[in-house]
Amino acid sequence: MDKMTVSAPGKLLLMGEHSVVYGSPCLVTAINSRLVVTVNMADKDEWPESKFIEKSVHNFRNKFETTDHYGIRVSSELETKYGLGSSSAVTVATIYGLYKLTGKDPDKKELFDLCYQTVLEVQGVSSGFDVAAAIYGGIVYFYTGGKTIEKLEVENIPLIIGYSGVKADTVSIVNSVKEKISTHKDGVEEIFKNISNLVAEAKIALLEKDWVRLGTLMNFNQDYLEDLGVSTEKLDDMIIAARSAGAFGAKLSGAGGGDCMIALVSEEKRKTVSDAITKAGGQVLDVKMEHEGVRIEK
Ligand code: PMV
Repeated sequence: MDKMTVSAPGKLLLMGEHSVVYGSPCLVTAINSRLVVTVNMADKDEWPESKFIEKSVHNFRNKFETTDHYGIRVSSELETKYGLGSSSAVTVATIYGLYKLTGKDPDKKELFDLCYQTVLEVQGVSSGFDVAAAIYGGIVYFYTGGKTIEKLEVENIPLIIGYSGVKADTVSIVNSVKEKISTHKDGVEEIFKNISNLVAEAKIALLEKDWVRLGTLMNFNQDYLEDLGVSTEKLDDMIIAARSAGAFGAKLSGAGGGDCMIALVSEEKRKTVSDAITKAGGQVLDVKMEHEGVRIEK
């Protein structure tokens, strides 16, 4: 094989952000915006500037003790500014592309381990939930570092995604929580324990398609995220607007400090809730759950 094109989906964190960094579970869904990578054998290395691609190639070469050169091209429906998982998707697509290009067929966990190591080395902190979504697709129940990666049998989750207009800096927000742990250890641990219980309940609600219950659990999760100090006024406004317009529940998604919020809605309320989020200053994104993880395109 002299050329290989693969794609990987972006992600949205449904519940359990931050606590997942410290050993608790989270729920994440892959989304239907994908990033496409084409890799080929080459005489010299050539790819767009990206720490994630750089490190992906480095780690792949190390693992397989090769000095081969590669050409890599990327095209993406995932705008980096929304925080929808372009870093994890480019890492997964690059490494999977290199595996397939060189005639190797990794199982999902082997692929996860190499991709997670790569993201961790570039970012310094990461639970790896986004890497799992890019590889497995669908909705995944996930524990830190891939200790558990369970793809759930869920057909669909009726979400609206609203972008706050502010790009979040995940690493600095994760560090702000770390600092809070050093000053308020017991309080933060209590919050993490409560979020962990909410996520366990949410998993059942999701499998039972009990949207009323799931929405309530999302709202509780948001309360704890506010206690951690990671929400923003803009996100709060969008979340309150969505709830007032009849969403089952709404919360921020991801590290906080900006990026996106999600609302769980019935089809009857979809338009009203979308309009309310827009009126609160949010940008509603045309994104939904995706079943397929990383795959070969051609
Ligand atoms: O900001 P995002 O969408 O990359 O989400 C970060 C989620 C955290 O739990 C805060 C960090 C992590 O790696 O799990």
